[in-house]
Amino acid sequence: MLTEKSDGILEEREGLNLAKVQCEQIFNAVSDLIIIVDNNLTIMNVNRAMAERCGMTPKELEGRKCFEVMHGTESPPESCPHTKLLLSGECQNAEFTVEKLHGVFDVRMSPVFNSEGQLITCIHIARDITEKKRQEGLLAIQQKQLEEINSNLETRINDAVTELRKKDDILIQQSRLTAMGEMISAIAHQWRQPLNNIGLIVQSLQLAFKANDLTVQELNEDVADTMNILRQISETIDDFSNFFSYEEESSPFVVNDLVSRALSFVESALKKRGIRVELDVQDDITATGYPNEYVQALLNIILNARDVLLNNRTSPLITIRIFEENGRAIVTVRDNGGGISEANLPKIFDPYFTTKNQSTGAGIGLYMAKMVFEKKMHGSLTARNVDGGAEFRIEM
Ligand SMILES: Nc1ncnc2c1ncn2[C@@H]1O[C@H](COP(=O)(O)OP(=O)(O)OP(=O)(O)O)[C@@H](O)[C@H]1O
Ligand SMILES: [Mg+2]
Repeated sequence: MLTEKSDGILEEREGLNLAKVQCEQIFNAVSDLIIIVDNNLTIMNVNRAMAERCGMTPKELEGRKCFEVMHGTESPPESCPHTKLLLSGECQNAEFTVEKLHGVFDVRMSPVFNSEGQLITCIHIARDITEKKRQEGLLAIQQKQLEEINSNLETRINDAVTELRKKDDILIQQSRLTAMGEMISAIAHQWRQPLNNIGLIVQSLQLAFKANDLTVQELNEDVADTMNILRQISETIDDFSNFFSYEEESSPFVVNDLVSRALSFVESALKKRGIRVELDVQDDITATGYPNEYVQALLNIILNARDVLLNNRTSPLITIRIFEENGRAIVTVRDNGGGISEANLPKIFDPYFTTKNQSTGAGIGLYMAKMVFEKKMHGSLTARNVDGGAEFRIEM
């Protein structure tokens, strides 16, 4: 009976010893740094990782004050949550930069109570988060740099867009000047005949007066004729100046009228150079947009055809068609000037692309026309080669 009892005690002891050894093995195998301290922060035990990190043996650390070993101070640092733990009896967490251990640590402090519920020791487990912190720091710097690049990029893009707008404005202005030049020669042409007529009337008046042959009725008729001619001249000026007035809002218009208007500006110049214009039109095709800009853009297309036809001596011809297709107002301007080379075709709408010499072409006519039809009026302008020449197609 007695032997059985002592056998049991022996077994129990062996079991306890085994558990203690296993506990110690685990304690020393953990890579986190562990210190067990009493209520006065005196070190009672440390695991292998902690001893190695301090460059001392566990025995050398035992009995020393935790704050002295960790922080090299004579009292715990203000941020040490141990005091809080003593008061509350609850687990505490804190992040510490421990200069003596060259790192940043996430420290968890857990209280240990005896069977009477009294707090007797405290286990500090410190996890090295130096690398994690360094990465977080790097990430924050990169984030900041990225934000700076982003905001710079936005300003740079805004600057570039403003710059481009300015350039576009200048281009449109230049292209208007080209149209204006055409118009001035058209005005000169349209005025030549009426001015001749006025000259003839004045001369005949003078002759009749000299010959004492001038009746009041004749005088009145001549004055009325002259006034009529002057009114026509004045209307021509109105037409041209309206053409350059700024249109604030888009409005509906009859496409046929705009084509006639564009042709009226260049008709005489084309005729003089033997260029025929053929019209193939459906009546009263309508669209909505900015009529003056439409005419200016169309004029650029017609003038390009004229330019290419100046070198084409055999029956130069411009054919303009106006028709409706799928509810869209279509105008095509076709010439028989030989067309555009396949290499140049994709570039003709680029600003400053020209095959003409510097004095005759700036390479902005088609760029401006494309902007007007597509950006401003949400239509389209395309070009293709057809039999013997080029064809431009405006869709609105
Ligand atoms: N009808 C056409 N036939 C053949 N090539 C053309 C025709 N229209 C335009 N092109 C080509 O497209 C280029 C660009 O035309 P665009 O009107 O933009 O500029 P440009 O006529 O050269 O100069 P600008 O119009 O500024 O005075 C022309 O230089 C020419 O090579
Ligand atoms: Mg041009």
